[in-house]
Amino acid sequence: MPASILLATDSVIAGAARLLREGRLVAFATETVYGLGGDATNGRAVARIFAAKGRPRFNPLIVHVSGLAEAEALATFDERAREAARRFWPGPLSLVLRRREASGLSLLVSAGLDTVALRVPAHPVAQSLLRAAGRPIAAPSANRSGRVSPTSADHVAAELGRRAALILDGGLCQIGLESTVLDLSGNKPVLLRPGAVTVESLGEIFGKIESSAGDDAAPRSPGRLPSHYAPSLPVRLDATSARPGEVLLAFGAEAPTGFVEVLQLSRKGDLAEAAANLFSMLRRLDRPEFSGIAVMPIPERGLGRAINDRLRRAAAPRGPTSS
Ligand code: TXA
Ligand code: MG
Repeated sequence: MPASILLATDSVIAGAARLLREGRLVAFATETVYGLGGDATNGRAVARIFAAKGRPRFNPLIVHVSGLAEAEALATFDERAREAARRFWPGPLSLVLRRREASGLSLLVSAGLDTVALRVPAHPVAQSLLRAAGRPIAAPSANRSGRVSPTSADHVAAELGRRAALILDGGLCQIGLESTVLDLSGNKPVLLRPGAVTVESLGEIFGKIESSAGDDAAPRSPGRLPSHYAPSLPVRLDATSARPGEVLLAFGAEAPTGFVEVLQLSRKGDLAEAAANLFSMLRRLDRPEFSGIAVMPIPERGLGRAINDRLRRAAAPRGPTSS
């Protein structure tokens, strides 16, 4: 059954904002492509985005805000970032910046990284929704993983069906291509994804810009793209009993005993809850007084695939070049 597509009138926007605040997903028009939005401060809502897209791994998502002031509450801006924002926001540019400690953003939205991609969309529907919701909205393109990005409300309905509570129709997307992603979290600006804001126009602010191989696929060149968060402690998967000094990341009610400390990804075995907790719990357990992090088996279905993908990479032997 298709999701309801509604023209974005004021009262429809108010209803959509309410859905978002309740943790539901709302697809909406932007000037680039339609986004599948969820409350970026709510880990469960962000987990639902990954589930709805059927993504096999947790890529960091773009967080949408209504303006520069709202963006500055979430990440630290230097003069370069402010200049880029003044010049290109609202518009099809996403900036990767360091998250603020007190941003309130879910860690899942950044896939555990210390950075976050921020964008201020220009489309009036996206703008009204952000203002009405009064909070940052995570929104990847509103398609199933591995398929082309939707540029009309009908495309979204065909892609996602009932996975979105509501589709806010704002007509055809003018640009039809995802935003440019520029990483300003390091010393040198790096173009992570080309888009409507061209490297030439960015060059007017930054001079020559390094470009990463980047597409939506995983970072291919470790050391250039920000490496995904990996705990310092060794990670042991599919643990069924304790080893000395170990802490446990548990899943489901039947946790083995004997661990120094136990955190529950989800006592009731809910994969969306586990995904929402994953990165923050790994960080909480990653302390030098423990010998290692043991993880109970997680079912390899739905969001469990993305959780296991991340855990396997955290558990993989680490060389100097691994990311
Ligand atoms: O045009 C767009 O940007 C659309 C509309 C809906 O706004 N959104 C979109 O979002 O394309 P998404 O989540 O599909 O794109 C995320 C891109 C990916 O290439 C991802 O790797 C990169 O941004 N990205 C996000 N956060 C990042 C981070 N912290 N570090 C590096 N790359 C990041
Ligand atoms: Mg996409």
